[in-house]
Amino acid sequence: MNLTQAINYRRSVRKFDPDKEIDTQKVKKCIEQATLAPNSSNMQLWEFYHITSSNILKKISIASFDQPAAKTAKQMVVIIVRKDLWKKRANANLKFIKRSFRNKKPENYSSREKFAIYYYKKLIPLNYFDVLGIFGLFKYVFFWLIGFFRPIYRQVKNSDMRIVAHKSAGLAAQTFMLSMADINYDTCPMEGFDSLRVKKALKLPRKVEINMIISCGIRMPEGVYGERFRIPFKEVYNKV
Ligand SMILES: Cc1cc2nc3c(=O)[nH]c(=O)nc-3n(C[C@H](O)[C@H](O)[C@H](O)COP(=O)(O)O)c2cc1C
Repeated sequence: MNLTQAINYRRSVRKFDPDKEIDTQKVKKCIEQATLAPNSSNMQLWEFYHITSSNILKKISIASFDQPAAKTAKQMVVIIVRKDLWKKRANANLKFIKRSFRNKKPENYSSREKFAIYYYKKLIPLNYFDVLGIFGLFKYVFFWLIGFFRPIYRQVKNSDMRIVAHKSAGLAAQTFMLSMADINYDTCPMEGFDSLRVKKALKLPRKVEINMIISCGIRMPEGVYGERFRIPFKEVYNKV
């Protein structure tokens, strides 16, 4: 399949064929491709839980109200947002950047290289550091005042940072689903679930957030609920 074919092939499938298994290694490969999705500041604040155990699949299906896409799934992928890992990920980026400089002395860094280090050492902590949302609110007011005089990044509240992390996880989700479509595997993204129960089933800490659960399998013809509906393109397309 080329990309256009995969985009057209992908549908939200609500009923998977009980007699058709999917290859765990192939699904794992699609998850690996998902990690190549673009993501905010390359912070990769995500984790992927690939569910193959029938016991856990059942628990997650119950937590997802036994909706058809969950009940008939052969496997599932739960995409987790790990905003709490920001320090670790910033350090991983720093380490990677420094390694790519190949023993260059700091005084010989180019301005782009200096900025890359400054970015992960200073700007990322400035954006991500927060205590109970209080520092975020302070930053928001401070940046708002600066915004009177020059363009400034304003999405610094705790709630903004959650959106930042979920946006990136959503892109990984779509990359995963297209990778699956490319090999004629089907998926259904789901947000209809009891997040607390899903976290319990996966033994996840309370502070992490679930971006999406993606059911996987092979479609039954009736698993695609009718023709695809989209608002006429001209209503959503604005050329400026
Ligand atoms: C974030 C998100 C959450 C969704 N949650 C559910 C869900 O809980 N159950 C479900 O059956 N479909 C769910 N869907 C699937 C949408 O209903 C579906 O993508 C939409 O109707 C368009 O159809 P298509 O995916 O076949 O193009 C979800 C989709 C997204 C992107």
